[in-house]
Amino acid sequence: MTIDTAPQDRQAQLDQLRAEIQACTRCMLHQTRTQAVPGEGPFDAKIMLVGEAPGYNEDKQGKPFVGASGKWLTELLALGGLQRDEVFITNIVKSRPPDNRDPLPEEITACEVWLERQLAIIQPRLIITLGRHSMGWFCGPGLKITQVHGRARRARGYVVLTMFHPAAGLHNQSLKATIEEDFSRIPRLLEVLAQQEAAAKKGEPPGEQLSLL
Ligand code: URA
Repeated sequence: MTIDTAPQDRQAQLDQLRAEIQACTRCMLHQTRTQAVPGEGPFDAKIMLVGEAPGYNEDKQGKPFVGASGKWLTELLALGGLQRDEVFITNIVKSRPPDNRDPLPEEITACEVWLERQLAIIQPRLIITLGRHSMGWFCGPGLKITQVHGRARRARGYVVLTMFHPAAGLHNQSLKATIEEDFSRIPRLLEVLAQQEAAAKKGEPPGEQLSLL
């Protein structure tokens, strides 16, 4: 994918998008939220993480993943060799559902225009989905997170790594080690992606397949 827009334009586009998301009234969640949570991170992030929806703390602070799940997510990223400020973090739904209920299909549909525009500006090399709603949006129905966690595939034109939501590990201690292991394999995946990109540039076959990782 080629990026032919100047850096200052991409930052300006992301700032403009942020303002539009903050003013969004596309679904009923705008009536109960404190504020929308557009997401945060650099406009040229190579990796985008997509969670489910803001919770209590995110709704209050206007930032994604700042509660208990977020604190652990920062540690998980470090296990994967990543700093939180080098990735872009957002959610499928940008406003908090009341009582942290699951987002409704119509709320996901109303909100997807924002994610599509974030993807178009940032053009990440790797998407990490956190939980089943985000996985479903990228990969379609039918996947079971218990079967595909920690695996990468191509979907919607992106490389998508499907991960358990960090809250799952906080609620179920037996999943913690599995989630940590999944994140610790990110550097190997990035290596393979870099090799595949280099091979593609030279017109060579891709080498190691994502499905084998
Ligand atoms: N859970 C999510 O899915 N997103 C957040 O921003 C916080 C908790």
